[in-house]
This record gives sequence, C-alpha cells and structure tokens, in this order.
Amino acid sequence: MSNAEQVAYWNGEAGRKWADNDAMMAHMLAPIAQDLLQHARVEGARRVLDVGCGGGSETLMVAEHLGPQATVLGVDISAPLLNVARERARAAGGGGKQVDFLEADASTHAFPPASFDLLFSRFGVMFFDDPTAAFANLRQALQPGARLAFSCWQPLQENLWALLPLKAAFQHLPPPEPPPPHAPGPFAFADADYTRSVLEGAGFTDIDIAPHAVTMAWGREDDLATTARDMLNMGPVSRLLQDCDAALRETVHAAAVEAMAPWFSEGKIRLPGAVWLVTARKA
Ligand SMILES: C[S@@+](CC[C@H](N)C(=O)[O-])C[C@H]1O[C@@H](n2cnc3c(N)ncnc32)[C@H](O)[C@@H]1O
Repeated sequence: MSNAEQVAYWNGEAGRKWADNDAMMAHMLAPIAQDLLQHARVEGARRVLDVGCGGGSETLMVAEHLGPQATVLGVDISAPLLNVARERARAAGGGGKQVDFLEADASTHAFPPASFDLLFSRFGVMFFDDPTAAFANLRQALQPGARLAFSCWQPLQENLWALLPLKAAFQHLPPPEPPPPHAPGPFAFADADYTRSVLEGAGFTDIDIAPHAVTMAWGREDDLATTARDMLNMGPVSRLLQDCDAALRETVHAAAVEAMAPWFSEGKIRLPGAVWLVTARKA
C-alpha cells in the first residue's frame, strides 16, 4: 500500500472501526505502551512526538508518565482517530493540556527541525511506503542526542493472536497473495535485521531491538461469540472479510468461535503475541 492508500485506508472503514472500538483497543494495548515506557527509560524527555498516535490513549500515557513539564504532540493521518484523541484529551482535563494533535503524514511532514527530544510510537511506524526516507524525515525533527522508542510486531508465526484467527478464516477463504517482504503493514518490521538497516540508513545510532512477550486480551467482558466478533472486526481477518457477503462472514465467525474457545476466559479471548521494543538515538 502506498502512503496515499494508507491515508485512504485509515480515513475510511479502518479508521472508523478503530475509532468505534477505541476504548477496547486502548485497554488491550495499554500494557504495551507501559512496557515500552519502562524499557526505553524515557524520563527527562520534555518534547515528545508520538507517531501514528491513533485515538491518543498512549499520547496521554506518555504525558502522564513524563509529568507536567513535558509536552506531547500526537501525529496521525486519520481524521476519525484524531477526533477520538482530541475528545480523550479534553475529557482528561489537566493531563490533556500537555498534549496536542496534528493531522499529517509523519513520513513527509515538515516538522520544525530539532524540535523534539523523544520520538515515541506504539505500532504507528510500520505503514510508511519508504521507511528509510520516513525515519530520515522524522530524524530531522529530533534534537541531537534525542531518543527514539517504538513497538512493532515480531513475525506473524510468533503472534498467535493474529495467526489463529487467520487460520480459522482460511478454512473458508482463499489465502491472499503473500505480501512482498517488509511491505507496509503490521508486520513490516517483523525482521529485526531489516528494521536495524532502516534505522541505520536513516542516520540513527545506538539501535537496540529487544524481544518482548505480550498477551492480547480481546473483547469487552462478553460472551465468546461476541468477543470473537470483536476480534474478527479489528484483527487482521477484518481486511479479508471486507468484500465477503454476510453468509460467508457468518461461516468465518463460526470457525473463529470454535478456534477461540480454548483461549476464552472471563469474557476475553487471551492470546500470546510477541513484539520488538526498538530504541535508538540521533547522534
Ligand atoms: C495500528 S494503529 C496504532 C494506533 C495507536 N498508536 C495505538 O497504539 O493505539 C496505526 C496508526 O498509524 C497511523 N498512521 C499510518 N501511517 C501514518 C503516517 N504516514 N503518518 C502518521 N500516522 C500514520 C494510522 O492512522 C493509525 O492510527
């Protein structure tokens, strides 16, 4: 997908779905932002750029973590998600005053040079069509010595939360053409060597890529059928179901319910996942 297609995607059905399910996604992904904040030891940062901030839940977490001296600018291409982010900041009152949001393509936007001391992102940097150029663009927005900290997914095979629903769906849907390696999307940075080469190419140093295990707890404390529907709606199967008729969707849903039953407890489907916690520095 080109950057223009990403803009259309995240402003279309995907953006609306993420916006509608923002509370569930924010709750499920909160531990990953916390883990990244702890891992990257970002204390002391004062001007933060949160790339691909989505509904802004982690933007507020970063602000709260760093305290009132810090400001955080969330940048995203999705207007529906930025509406959610602005509303969330308003509702947060005091904490919300530290944050601001910008609708822009982070890969090409002309940020004021050397204006941030931390680039943070939870799953927001894997969608650039030219990642080296995008990170070079982001680098110029950083002060010398500034830090970068982002999370991205390890390969699909390590992420049962994505793999198992896809396997259930493929019982009834033709598997799509495998994307070219490193294609923009959730698994673009699954290969740590590739990610390192992108960051080196963009001029970053002190690159560290640490494996980290996570649990993805899908749903909102409901029954298995509803929870499986939430997962299909928001997980990687959703793109495959986009053009299917209602009958086929129901067939895939039934297969997912069966596959998820062993993983369902206390109103959630809990599945293991694996991320990379990536840190680097602008020399
Ligand atoms: C998987 S979502 C993650 C959202 C949020 N960081 C979270 O963890 O809840 C990826 C986000 O990246 C945004 N995005 C994709 N390409 C972008 C770009 N070129 N510039 C800024 N944001 C982008 C999308 O609109 C989307 O909100």
